[in-house]
Amino acid sequence: MKIAPHRNSPLRVNSQITFKNRLIVPPMASSTATAEGIATPKTISHYARLADSGASLVIAEYTYVHPSGRSEELQLGASSDLHIAGLTAIATAIKSKDAYAGLQLTHSGGKSNSQMTTGNLMGPSGIRVPVKNEELETPRTMTREDVDLWRSSFVSGADRAVVAGFDLVEFHAAHGYGFNQWLSPLTNQRSDQYGKDAASRFRLLGEVISAVRANHPRLLISVRIPGQDFYPGGLQLEDSIALAGRLEKIGVDLLHVSSGIGGWRRPSPRLGQGYLVPEAAAIQASVQIPVIGVGGIETGSYIDAALGGNQFALAAVGRAILKDPLGWRASEMNS
Ligand SMILES: Cc1cc2nc3c(=O)[nH]c(=O)nc-3n(C[C@H](O)[C@H](O)[C@H](O)COP(=O)(O)O)c2cc1C
Repeated sequence: MKIAPHRNSPLRVNSQITFKNRLIVPPMASSTATAEGIATPKTISHYARLADSGASLVIAEYTYVHPSGRSEELQLGASSDLHIAGLTAIATAIKSKDAYAGLQLTHSGGKSNSQMTTGNLMGPSGIRVPVKNEELETPRTMTREDVDLWRSSFVSGADRAVVAGFDLVEFHAAHGYGFNQWLSPLTNQRSDQYGKDAASRFRLLGEVISAVRANHPRLLISVRIPGQDFYPGGLQLEDSIALAGRLEKIGVDLLHVSSGIGGWRRPSPRLGQGYLVPEAAAIQASVQIPVIGVGGIETGSYIDAALGGNQFALAAVGRAILKDPLGWRASEMNS
């Protein structure tokens, strides 16, 4: 008889790495870096604290790979070698608590403003990112040189994460940020080989991942994808299932299924824990690699039930852990 996995079951994620349990901490911006994107003592203690949750993996917040991809003032950077010392301190703090360390890499594309990007707000098609309750500026259309710079910036960002000691990089392709704009028909209406159809809209993300995989054969690679855009005319679940298949095929280790252009918060008709888990479950049913489910998860018993139902292989718990990592561990992981 096959015994269903539970929250404390280990999970082998590649030939070298086995997670000690099914809990991960998802990326959550701490807004504690310097204006130059360098980690401060506050950033480092923040991650040591999150690792007290007992999670097998802590993914550090969205980190820009190029100054044109910044989206907030005190955001962490991985765009320069000057960032490496601070990133090393974050990875060391997480790993000293017996967790694996991940770093989310991002470019905001058009989901920022011209001030933050020093006048260089750009997107795949020069289409305003349709964020709810906010009127963003219209970005300029990216040229082929911009595409090359974007690609090389992600590759260098991943190199820096490896030098800093991170075990995993996660490419942020959700919540309306850069790669989400490339994937979504709402914001990518290019007619060249990086637009046109779903395969072409995937091309840039695929190129980045293949280059990083070639440089770092054993680095864990996660991609945070939308289960759907949750925006009219955007990515639907079937598009995300096709995307998941493409990512699995090129050697991605983990898929982190969140939401798209509509943002990470609870879509209004969804109730209860695991508000984005229906999409994670549909994607987990279509791929062999582990899927991370997220969205309002608060209890160990919910995680066990979802694991038992094969809805995902790993649970991300954000705000419930942010509030009280040690308390959450005591009540939900050690119970
Ligand atoms: C303060 C805060 C910052 C966040 N920053 C990020 C981020 O940097 N990257 C990201 O992909 N998601 C970010 N998110 C979304 C979380 O990763 C997660 O998907 C969301 O909080 C839902 O999970 P939860 O209900 O367990 O908190 C952030 C959420 C919060 C509360």
